[in-house]
Amino acid sequence: MTSVIVLNITTACNYKCKHCLREHPTVEHFDIKILERNFEQMKKLGVVEFSITGGEPWLHPEFPQLIDTIAKNGFKFNFVTNGSAIKKYEFIFDKYRSSLSEVTISIDGLQKTHDFIRQPGAFDSAIASIRELVGRGIPVRSITCLNKLNIKEFEGIVSRLIDEKVSRITVSGAIETPENKFLVLTEQEQKLARDEAERVQKKFNAPFIYCSALSGGWGVDFCGALNSLDGLAINPKNELVFCCDTVRNGAVLGSLADHTFVELYKLAIDTVAYLKSKRADYIIDGKLPPKFNTCEFCNMCLANKICEV
Ligand SMILES: C[S@@+](CC[C@H](N)C(=O)[O-])C[C@H]1O[C@@H](n2cnc3c(N)ncnc32)[C@H](O)[C@@H]1O
Ligand code: SF4
Ligand code: SF4
Repeated sequence: MTSVIVLNITTACNYKCKHCLREHPTVEHFDIKILERNFEQMKKLGVVEFSITGGEPWLHPEFPQLIDTIAKNGFKFNFVTNGSAIKKYEFIFDKYRSSLSEVTISIDGLQKTHDFIRQPGAFDSAIASIRELVGRGIPVRSITCLNKLNIKEFEGIVSRLIDEKVSRITVSGAIETPENKFLVLTEQEQKLARDEAERVQKKFNAPFIYCSALSGGWGVDFCGALNSLDGLAINPKNELVFCCDTVRNGAVLGSLADHTFVELYKLAIDTVAYLKSKRADYIIDGKLPPKFNTCEFCNMCLANKICEV
């Protein structure tokens, strides 16, 4: 059972990054009440922590209320931010420190590349935020989404992150959307990127976490997030989705406005079984569709139900 649920609480963002998979035409914020009424079931099923993302989390109009209810109900939380406005999170560090497990800050390149992908000044803000958090003794995790521009400087990025004293380094890969094709690594480049990441990890002896978006496995059980359901997420429409590494609203299981958490959780188990049996058919047949071992295939199959053999 999943112990962490991702909360993708808002589509609102103060950046418009070139690689971003969250292009939403309208601003939507998820409903805290719908989450609250599922707390009990979540707890019984083993959920201990919420991983908060967006958009940019603080732009949810009831962000302080969300943090308060998560902490009061005995859950831990962490959040992911672009690091542009760490002051907006300051109330957490003062009042909810014991419930906060870590903060993740996105770093998508050295200064020039990061600012090109994100926006001018973004790198300096992100580094200043890392320093602020480290100074307060809060564990900081970084996440780098590898793409055609930043792979060449990955060693430099890691060296810088270690200098800045991040505790864990997450490496991901850019998932394709209709708008970001120019950045996305080919399957061959993705394999080389994984090799490069492993080389750098060894060189620095650093604590790395690899996301399936960079390199899933092979065979039927190609993604750990799928197998343990530890990518389950609630999107800004209050829907339970398989994984937040999906484009737009993700692979939707159903709305928590209409169903209980346990109903959708059981549907998740059945749908994973469906995906795996389809994968087994493809593998035995020997004709693998393009990108069979990537998030794109997973998205296509789970969200659009077009993994029919
Ligand atoms: C969607 S953002 C939300 C949190 C915050 N706004 C940020 O940028 O850190 C969470 C993470 O997803 C990553 N991301 C965005 N688009 C992606 C894509 N197409 N493929 C893989 N990761 C992506 C971002 O780089 C970021 O590290
Ligand atoms: S990657 Fe994060 S900061 Fe950039 S546009 Fe997407 S949600 Fe906003
Ligand atoms: S989209 Fe699918 S393959 Fe990719 S990380 Fe999520 S569950 Fe795994």
